[in-house]
Amino acid sequence: MRAVVCSEFGPLDRLEVRELPEPPLPPGHVRVKVTCASVNYPDALMVLGAYQVKPALPFVPGAELAGTVTEVGEGVTHLRPGDRVLALCWLGAFATEAVVEARLALPLDAAIDFAHAAALPMTYGTAFHALLDRAQLRAGETLLVLGAGGGVGLAAVELGRHMGATVIAAASSSAKLEAARARGADHAIDYGTQDLRAELRRITGGRGPDVILDPVGGSYAEPALRSIAWGGRYLVVGFAAGDIPRVPLNLPLLKGCAVIGVFWGEFLKREADRGADELRQLLAWLKDGTLRPLVSARVPLERAAEAMRTVHERGAVGKIVVEP
Ligand SMILES: NC(=O)c1ccc[n+]([C@@H]2O[C@H](COP(=O)([O-])OP(=O)(O)OC[C@H]3O[C@@H](n4cnc5c(N)ncnc54)[C@H](OP(=O)(O)O)[C@@H]3O)[C@@H](O)[C@H]2O)c1
Repeated sequence: MRAVVCSEFGPLDRLEVRELPEPPLPPGHVRVKVTCASVNYPDALMVLGAYQVKPALPFVPGAELAGTVTEVGEGVTHLRPGDRVLALCWLGAFATEAVVEARLALPLDAAIDFAHAAALPMTYGTAFHALLDRAQLRAGETLLVLGAGGGVGLAAVELGRHMGATVIAAASSSAKLEAARARGADHAIDYGTQDLRAELRRITGGRGPDVILDPVGGSYAEPALRSIAWGGRYLVVGFAAGDIPRVPLNLPLLKGCAVIGVFWGEFLKREADRGADELRQLLAWLKDGTLRPLVSARVPLERAAEAMRTVHERGAVGKIVVEP
């Protein structure tokens, strides 16, 4: 099999595409021929050695994939060779084949495109868990999404709209804001050129957004939190801007608001059944056309490192998919 290999933590251009021996198939696992694997921000962090979990070296990056089962391990009853699947593997997806835990491999309806399926789990799973379980977003509320043209951000725009919220998208370019509008955002703020707080006051009539989903952090977090409505919920999802913001704790007091952490990977481990139910719901919405993940580029394995750099350096709109 061919795979993208990280032999040492460091710059993404040190990744190599190499021939590797076929990995063994432990009980409870399935072997999958990978058709599509999508790029997520944490993939780059893992290669850089900057993620909260450091994989053992060498490793193959790539957290999620869609493809066809070629072999099933002992004890696997719900899948057979030839089945189309969507799988979460955390590592190993940027390869022509991958061995994945069967419980994290969901059967994929023939009507669902492999690229759209591969683009779904982490970004939509995180956004859905954040909005549904953590913020308990209600129809009629106002949702502000920061980084609204990125993977998690665009998923949050689409899901927030579907859940009945008025969605305000904030992002750094017209291409990202257009993508957010096309996925249902009611309002758009270019926080590179516009004053975030003034625009939020204008759009919400001074009230502020009820829920803020923040995958960006950096210098946007504090002005966003200062703008939140009374009784609001601020979802801490990620720090793509690099800096982990330190916000004054008088703000939650003054706003009567909650600052809520979101950790989808841990949620999937601790509440596996609920997590799987949410993924099945997302797949059903993908199938009936409610959700339309934006796949803005498809690249071969040889360009996976470049795709990871694009995502890491703020260049991606929606999702990039690797096609091994
Ligand atoms: N908590 C969880 O369970 C969980 C799960 C998945 C991902 N995450 C985290 O969520 C964040 C977003 O992930 P993603 O896959 O959606 O990434 P993404 O597609 O790259 O989106 C991140 C967005 O952050 C913004 N950004 C601002 N400054 C940036 C900078 N200096 N470098 C890069 N991006 C910058 C960009 O939007 P603008 O250019 O419009 O500002 C970009 O679109 C990451 O921090 C990731 O680790 C958390």
